[in-house]
Amino acid sequence: MPRTISRNLHLVAFFLLLASLLTIGLSALEKQPASTYHDRRVALAARLHGGVAILFAAEEPLLDFMPYRQDADFYYLTGWNEPGAALMVVGAEQNATPAHAYREILFLPTRNLRMEKYTGIKLDAATPGAAKTSGVDEVMPMTSLPGVLNALITADRPLSANLWTHPDSTQSSALLNWTSTTLGEAANFTPHDLTLLTTQLRLFKDPEELALLGKAADASIDAQRLMLRSVKPGVTERAIAGKMIARMMENGCERPSYAPIVGSGINSTELHYAENSATMAAGDVVVVDAACEYSMYASDITRTVPVSGHFTDRQREVYNVVLGAQRAAAAAFVAGKSTLNDPYRRDPNSLDTVAWQYIHDHGKGLHGEPLSDYWIHGLGHMVGIDVHDPSGYPAVLRPGMVFTIEPGVYIPEEKLGVRIEDVFIVGQDGKLIDMIASLPHTAEDVEAAMKATK
Ligand code: GLY
Ligand code: MN
Ligand code: MN
Repeated sequence: MPRTISRNLHLVAFFLLLASLLTIGLSALEKQPASTYHDRRVALAARLHGGVAILFAAEEPLLDFMPYRQDADFYYLTGWNEPGAALMVVGAEQNATPAHAYREILFLPTRNLRMEKYTGIKLDAATPGAAKTSGVDEVMPMTSLPGVLNALITADRPLSANLWTHPDSTQSSALLNWTSTTLGEAANFTPHDLTLLTTQLRLFKDPEELALLGKAADASIDAQRLMLRSVKPGVTERAIAGKMIARMMENGCERPSYAPIVGSGINSTELHYAENSATMAAGDVVVVDAACEYSMYASDITRTVPVSGHFTDRQREVYNVVLGAQRAAAAAFVAGKSTLNDPYRRDPNSLDTVAWQYIHDHGKGLHGEPLSDYWIHGLGHMVGIDVHDPSGYPAVLRPGMVFTIEPGVYIPEEKLGVRIEDVFIVGQDGKLIDMIASLPHTAEDVEAAMKATK
């Protein structure tokens, strides 16, 4: 074989290997089509009024063995799961002098071949086909970012007052400080809060996002069912958390969407107890708030379970009030009218008000006080790439939104906490869909599921 052909074949083989390694790396998560992420960037650009948005990916952890999770906005806009990148979206502006067109640029850090021995092969701007692989129109090295921003503002000075970044990003602050210094124009460089715009977009889930949320919900339901079969006196809270995490991962989830809460006895009254260090005792209830994320989309489920397999009369009474509140809130739901989270619980359209009123009217503490005195948190929150997905509150609930309904009552003097939490979708027809419908809800169904062998 002539040497040039042989060398070319070696090159082809090398790029095929590289491409397959990159594909393996990139396909670990189920992605949406590249056009979806592109459409989101275009939708963001439409809200910029000719401005420039700059956001940074999560950094590779300082200690390479620490957990890594992509920045949620960055993932939403790119589907890009590698660390250390930046994204610039430039809104079209006909009235600027000169006018500028829509642009989107992914800035990638230079490959660190030594670090790649620890954390795997990455893609950089010099990698052949980087723009096609990333799905972003332009890909440049990270070192070009200050120069590109500088050139944009030099060509259109008023742009410095129309920059959008994450307000708490140290990288954005450093970049804007540098740019304002080099342009000698510090005054106008106070950026706008980019999350005001990304939140508006992320509130409404598209069908593919709903499918990913569905996979997270189903994997979490399965782990909760395993929990129902595994809770027994003498078993530790931590053993339950461990079994659930193993099952979540067997079901294709990359991690729990928050530290699992397995709180028995007095621990059931601590809202975000995650120490999971006690051994469960007969006669107590255990609050199990545990769910996972599938390809970056979260679920969030709580069930409350009698350790011995049978609720006492008092536990059942309180359980039924909490379940009644969840059902009352769901029954009162009207798309476009109902709201989530009203801290004062006065607005009749607030599902919080409905649930709170139900608990207030249907149960008492040991001293005759209304049971609602023992509910101290909001009714729910949006769910998406973040388990607490961003939203302003109170939020009017509209088609495409996904949120939890999770009333709870926590009575320390009775060592009795009860929370029941499901994730709901507002369907396009305005109807509420319970993503966790197949998991037992009633006290009796919980008891029956605890006896199941499979
Ligand atoms: N698992 C956290 C929450 O329910 O909000
Ligand atoms: Mn929740
Ligand atoms: Mn929860």
